Amino acid sequence: MTRVFSGIQPTGGVHLGNYLGAVRYWVEDQRDGETFYCVVDLHALTVPRDPAELCRQTRGMATLLLAAGLDPEACNLFVQSHVPEHTGLAWLLECTASMGELARMTQFKDKAAKGGEEAARVGLFTYPTLMAADILLYQATHVPVGEDQRQHLELTRDLAGRFNHRYGEVFTVPEPAIPPAGRGARIMDLQEPTRKMSKSGGSDQGMIGLFDDPAVVERKISRAVTDAESGPDAVRFDPDAKPGVSNLLQILAAATGADPAEVAGAYRRYGDLKAATAAAVVEMLRPLRAAYQDLEADPAGVDRVLRRGAERAGPVAAATLARAREAIGLLPPGTAYQS
Ligand code: TYM
Repeated sequence: MTRVFSGIQPTGGVHLGNYLGAVRYWVEDQRDGETFYCVVDLHALTVPRDPAELCRQTRGMATLLLAAGLDPEACNLFVQSHVPEHTGLAWLLECTASMGELARMTQFKDKAAKGGEEAARVGLFTYPTLMAADILLYQATHVPVGEDQRQHLELTRDLAGRFNHRYGEVFTVPEPAIPPAGRGARIMDLQEPTRKMSKSGGSDQGMIGLFDDPAVVERKISRAVTDAESGPDAVRFDPDAKPGVSNLLQILAAATGADPAEVAGAYRRYGDLKAATAAAVVEMLRPLRAAYQDLEADPAGVDRVLRRGAERAGPVAAATLARAREAIGLLPPGTAYQS
């Protein structure tokens, strides 16, 4: 049976890349097998956070995922720190991974470069082992993520294989479920279309937040960087040669459920493409914003969903952790007290 696990950080707001690369696929596929979706609050601690803000944003992210269409009857939605097995398994995986392989993670290198490696928190370095623990605890067969998480998933697969090889079969080796190119796998920054749209790093003008006002969405898209080509074939899907235009086509196609190369045929002028893209994004986000407002009025209801999610996730995680602990040679609790 298919077992799906995926996670999202609660901080920094959700942008169009998160939505088109991951969240909408979670919603579409939530009834395929058993699905676990997690707000990864522990991962947010790898950089400085205001405590009250983190707490508020964690509930806010869960609210947004429900507004986007996750159905608590169909999937298990929970908060990472509510299931303590995540950190328990992360330690076993830290003792499986090598310094060298963690040091090769590009996200660590990028983020550590910003504030200096000396000052970077140890958690930023070990981040991928916690992510591997998230996935492996649930014996996930599939992990729906955007292209930027591919390297972390490769590491997860390596760690699972190594652990199984050393200590016996404990973990399912998961498959990345990354959308095909042009289908939301990598939404780019509108101002710098050769870098991914990101919560941290990019300019505010290059990122569309899910709660940006329609007028702001229209303005940001109308100012998106394109190129100087004109002529009847200027609008075409060619991410290498035309990153800005291709990004708009990818967004428009994703928002309307079409193919980016086909969508291109309907436009000749960049202005028309931008207007159509903005209109499609505004339409796509409208119901989500309305649903969020309703759900936000009932925080206790959201907390109930999260509690139920953790109650269902907990036993699955506990069973895997118990097997991993035993396989690696830790004395099972209880035995120690027997005479
Ligand atoms: P996070 O919170 O940065 O992003 C959440 C999801 O959004 C995808 N994404 C994008 N997709 C397309 N275009 C973009 N520009 C773009 N930016 C982000 C990400 O690929 C991701 O799927 N480490 C993870 C969270 C995590 C996780 C896990 C994911 C923790 N444990 C276990 C899967 C399984 C992260 O920081 O995602």
